[in-house]
Amino acid sequence: MKEVSENKNIPKHIAIIMDGNGRWATKKGAMRIFGHRNATKAVREAIEGANSLGVKYLTLFSFSTENWSRPKAEVDALMELFVRTMSDELPMLMDGNYKLESIGNVESLPPSAYETLKRVEKTTSKNTGLKVILALSYSGHWELTNAAKHIAQKVSEGKLNVADITEKVMASHLETANYPDPELMVRTSGEYRISNFLLWQLAYTEMYFTPVLWPDFRREHLFAAISDYQSRERRFGKTGEQVKS
Ligand code: IPE
Ligand code: IPE
Ligand code: MG
Repeated sequence: MKEVSENKNIPKHIAIIMDGNGRWATKKGAMRIFGHRNATKAVREAIEGANSLGVKYLTLFSFSTENWSRPKAEVDALMELFVRTMSDELPMLMDGNYKLESIGNVESLPPSAYETLKRVEKTTSKNTGLKVILALSYSGHWELTNAAKHIAQKVSEGKLNVADITEKVMASHLETANYPDPELMVRTSGEYRISNFLLWQLAYTEMYFTPVLWPDFRREHLFAAISDYQSRERRFGKTGEQVKS
């Protein structure tokens, strides 16, 4: 495996679809929730690994809009786990100077999860290190629909002209208005799809897929993804010759 080159081309923003908890548990003959419970170490490793290389933003897909359709027992267990993990990991976030933020329809979370999230966001709000962005009750379709509503509202109130709706205006109405687009997206568990994650923002993101199930993910897996990213040529529609010159 190639090493990460620490001085060159570290992505500012990495987004991760943390997938495979259920299969990890099933393989061990355990309940799916056992897999979710064993995902915390992987989250910590991803945060610390990203930070150690100087990554500025790490977006973690934690619960999608579509995940609400899972069996109630699994959803309830996941929500309880969020509450406990966010509380338990607060000292780690403070020690590391990490700032926790969130994207998604977080108001749809149960009150205990919502309140814990807001408390952790507030407590870490002055931290100046890596921003850890949890996508919770998030989907790209939800986000884009919301943006359309807000823009339409401004037009109907005469605050915005249709002719002035640019790509920049669109981006500024997304949940991620304050973040650069991710340069690198990682998905674990061997699935090759986006599952309604960051549809607008991933337009030119480099994709990296690994068969590793999320509970087994460690910083060396993140480094392997970054090293692979560093070997790619991002052309943004231009020719290879143009990019090199
Ligand atoms: C990812 O693991 C965690 C969430 C979506 C909340 P899964 O629960 O999707 O695990 P698999 O894909 O069923 O193995
Ligand atoms: C995507 O994983 C959502 C999260 C990781 C939170 P899923 O396991 O829900 O994705 P699909 O449904 O298999 O595409
Ligand atoms: Mg899954």
